[in-house]
Amino acid sequence: MPSACVLTKYGPPSVLEWAEVAMPEPSKGEIRVKAMVSGVGPTDLKIRRGSLAAVYPLPDRAVLGFETAGVVDAVGDGVTGVAVGDEVAAQLMTLGGYGEFVVAKIWALKPKSVSWEDAGALPASVEAAVRVLRALKVSSGETLLLLGAGGSVGMIAAQLALRQGLHVIAAVGEHDEELVRELGATPVRYGSELLANVRKVADHVDATFDAAGKGGLEEAITLTDDRARVITLADERARDLGVAFSSWTPDGAPDAIAIGMELLANGELQLRSQRSLPMLEAAEAHRLLEEEGVREKLLLTTAAVG
Ligand SMILES: NC(=O)c1ccc[n+]([C@@H]2O[C@H](COP(=O)([O-])OP(=O)(O)OC[C@H]3O[C@@H](n4cnc5c(N)ncnc54)[C@H](OP(=O)(O)O)[C@@H]3O)[C@@H](O)[C@H]2O)c1
Repeated sequence: MPSACVLTKYGPPSVLEWAEVAMPEPSKGEIRVKAMVSGVGPTDLKIRRGSLAAVYPLPDRAVLGFETAGVVDAVGDGVTGVAVGDEVAAQLMTLGGYGEFVVAKIWALKPKSVSWEDAGALPASVEAAVRVLRALKVSSGETLLLLGAGGSVGMIAAQLALRQGLHVIAAVGEHDEELVRELGATPVRYGSELLANVRKVADHVDATFDAAGKGGLEEAITLTDDRARVITLADERARDLGVAFSSWTPDGAPDAIAIGMELLANGELQLRSQRSLPMLEAAEAHRLLEEEGVREKLLLTTAAVG
């Protein structure tokens, strides 16, 4: 039997336990992936704590994890374009990434030149980045305020927006200023001085992408004029403030993983710096993010990754 980190109940990181689980079977349109590297994201922590219980009702002993990269191990009926033995990265809208075997409906092939780590870190972040940039209808020459530009989603969004010819004002902490400047964005410090800091570099912004959910929406609304062009991925106050909260939908950005994978293969996309732990230490990964506030993307590796 394969193993996985299962959520035994809602609570602190220790509720995640490594245990044997049934082998997941791919249904029609699904593949099964032998996981190499799976990403851990902030949403996983919210789910584990029970904060999203109304949005993500979970089965008993659920396996968390929105993304993985690995080798296709079985193919369900009706699947085309991929075969057993292919290397893929997958976004997992029904979760499961903290397991040695995962079923997936959304994936892209992984070129050999892309590392397992980058492939495992990519899917959920690139999908959110592409989805929100499309929903904002940004176009070349416009100015985008990007809250959280040093994070996993934010770094990808910054680079995609810059490739589209936008001027990107990147709201970051001091530690990420140099990083986003090197990417080609204009850094401004997030926090209580956000409005003044943005006004030092721009009169107004055409659109705001909040990829952090840690405040700054009021300032973004003031700067952007048009609330329809302010979108957050994570700020629960969105509805009260009259701006959109973007959540995954099947037609949001189904091609995003392939877009990101091609850029990675060409050396044209830089992901947030990463730290890897063995998959059975998922609880420790959650503890590091929650208690020590590590600033790297945490990845869970299986014994299969060399
Ligand atoms: N709705 C969706 O579909 C969806 C999809 C993906 C992710 N999300 C959510 O989106 C958020 C970001 O995800 P992620 O994976 O990119 O997280 P991440 O890698 O942890 O990045 C979060 C970034 O926000 C920055 N930040 C902290 N406080 C800030 C502030 N006051 N103003 C601006 N930025 C600030 C952090 O900077 P420091 O390092 O300085 O703290 C960090 O760079 C999470 O809440 C996640 O749950 C939602």
